[in-house]
Amino acid sequence: MSERLIAYFSPTGNTKKLAEKLANAIEGDLFEIVPEKPYTKEDLDWLDRSSRSSLEMSNRGFRPDVLNKVEDISKYDIIYLGFPIWWYGAPNIVNSFLEEYDLKGKTIIPFATSGGSEMEDTNEGLAPSCKGAILKDGDVISEDLSEEELKEWAKKVEA
Ligand SMILES: Cc1cc2nc3c(=O)[nH]c(=O)nc-3n(C[C@H](O)[C@H](O)[C@H](O)COP(=O)(O)O)c2cc1C
Repeated sequence: MSERLIAYFSPTGNTKKLAEKLANAIEGDLFEIVPEKPYTKEDLDWLDRSSRSSLEMSNRGFRPDVLNKVEDISKYDIIYLGFPIWWYGAPNIVNSFLEEYDLKGKTIIPFATSGGSEMEDTNEGLAPSCKGAILKDGDVISEDLSEEELKEWAKKVEA
C-alpha cells in the first residue's frame, strides 16, 4: 500500500482543518509547513500593497524559509500538498518546502482552500519545484467536506 503524507501551510487555519480531516480519511501522516517567521495579520493584508504577503507574491522567485523538515520523506509515495490560494496561486513558501527534498518518482496532489478562486494556474507556479515528480491537477476544496467525501475525492485524484 502507498504511504501518504499530507503536508500543508495554513496561516489562518482553514487549510489545517481540511488537512487534518484528509489525514484521518486516508490514514496519512500530517506535516505542517511552519514558516521560520510567522505571518501576522498585517503580513496577510492583501489590500495593502506593501504588506509582507503582497511583496512576496509580487516576486514569485522569493523563497521564505521553512522552520521544520519532514523526517524521512523517502517513505512516502504520495504527497498531498495543502495551502491557501494567494493571488490565484500557491504561496511561495510552498515552493520553499518542495525544493528541500528529492521528489523523484513521487506523486504530488495539491489541494487548497480559497475565498472563491479555483486552482487557476497554480500548478504552473508549483511545477518548477516538483522536479522528477508527477504533479496532479488537484482541487480547491471546501473545509466543510466530510471525511467520507474527502475519501472519495482522494480515490478520484489518485486514480
Ligand atoms: C495574501 C492573501 C491572498 C489571497 N488571495 C486569494 C485569491 O487570490 N483568491 C481567493 O479566492 N482567496 C484568496 N485569499 C483567501 C484565502 O485563500 C482563504 O481565506 C484561505 O481559506 C485561507 O486559508 P488558511 O486559513 O489555511 O490560511 C487570499 C488570502 C491571503 C491572506
